[in-house]
Amino acid sequence: MQAKVDGEELTRSDLRVAKFHTPEIIVGSGALAEIAGAARGLGVQRLMIVSDRGIVATPWYPELAASLRSEGLSVSSFSEVSPNPRAPEISAALEHYDFRRCDGIVALGGGSVIDAAKGVAILAANGGHILQYEGIDKATSPLPPLIAAPTTAGSGSDVSQFCIVNDVDRMTKVTIIGRGLVPDVAVIDPRTLATLPPEVAAQSGMDAITHCIEAYASVAHSRLTDGAALSSIATAWRSIERFVGDPSDTVAGTNMAYASLEAGMAFTNAILGATHAMSHPVGGLCDAPHGAINSVLLPHVIRFNAAADPRPYVDLARAVGVDDSGSPHAVAERFADAVARLSYSVGLPRTLRAVGVLGEHLPVLTANAMVDACMTTNPRQPTPDEILGMYREAL
Ligand SMILES: [Fe+2]
Repeated sequence: MQAKVDGEELTRSDLRVAKFHTPEIIVGSGALAEIAGAARGLGVQRLMIVSDRGIVATPWYPELAASLRSEGLSVSSFSEVSPNPRAPEISAALEHYDFRRCDGIVALGGGSVIDAAKGVAILAANGGHILQYEGIDKATSPLPPLIAAPTTAGSGSDVSQFCIVNDVDRMTKVTIIGRGLVPDVAVIDPRTLATLPPEVAAQSGMDAITHCIEAYASVAHSRLTDGAALSSIATAWRSIERFVGDPSDTVAGTNMAYASLEAGMAFTNAILGATHAMSHPVGGLCDAPHGAINSVLLPHVIRFNAAADPRPYVDLARAVGVDDSGSPHAVAERFADAVARLSYSVGLPRTLRAVGVLGEHLPVLTANAMVDACMTTNPRQPTPDEILGMYREAL
């Protein structure tokens, strides 16, 4: 049903109830210094900093720890998180959290670190094993205070209700979703991007662009998520090559920090689509970087979705300055080509083989993609054969 007044029409998404949930957001150069006050505001006395070995070696970890201690907070550290966090690491972090009688968590790192911190928070409040919370709203008890300080520009986990954990036994990534998983405070300090290796800048930046595209095309999109997605992709598209060329470039870094933040606000509310649903099983199988896998799959998913309805991709093409002349299908095709070119230009792989996938893996990848929670909001529901077909094209 469409509502129409004076020739202006509401769309189907305008006629649905939309919810938009974000944490308190503190963003800007030097924002790390705000974490102590944020923790105090949440009533925290004994903080656990979750990070990884790479972050501990940067200036940001000692700066944060010193700032927290100078404010009288008790601080302990867990930094054994690997790039695709696994269930045993989360269990080990929980032991540390319990042993030190912590009452709140700060995650300082990329998406993997923030997701591991969410996993600890889930278990601290709900008990059990992290993999039993796969799916939507399975963790019902309120989580302890969680502050997320991202050091990459891409995952959006600092503002999202997503937690992705590697299930080593099933060789896939498990998606845990719940409004309770949105951190209490997101602290985005663009200075922290200066120490990113260029390949991580490329992977995480293309992840942010994937979030914009999937959130905009999602069946759960709304005006609020559309605005964030279009603004974010325009910023990221013009900044990513300069940022990857020099992650210490403060202009490009600040742009990417804001783009990642806005993309996160879009996708946590609109959810994602087939690119992420198909990427998670590949990440679990090959332990390859999430953003690199996404950028291989994304053009194929755009073409598949656009065959049914190219209109979202026409809007996205316009937002990034891709030629929008001709039929909507032609514009969507041009947009898919431009996405592929952008990801090649920042050095990301062109095929799934390049990240370790073999033809014999495709049936199990297809089975796992079909049941991933992100598939439900893809605008065109694929059959198993259609997913297999996209994997084959991307191979
Ligand atoms: Fe992602």
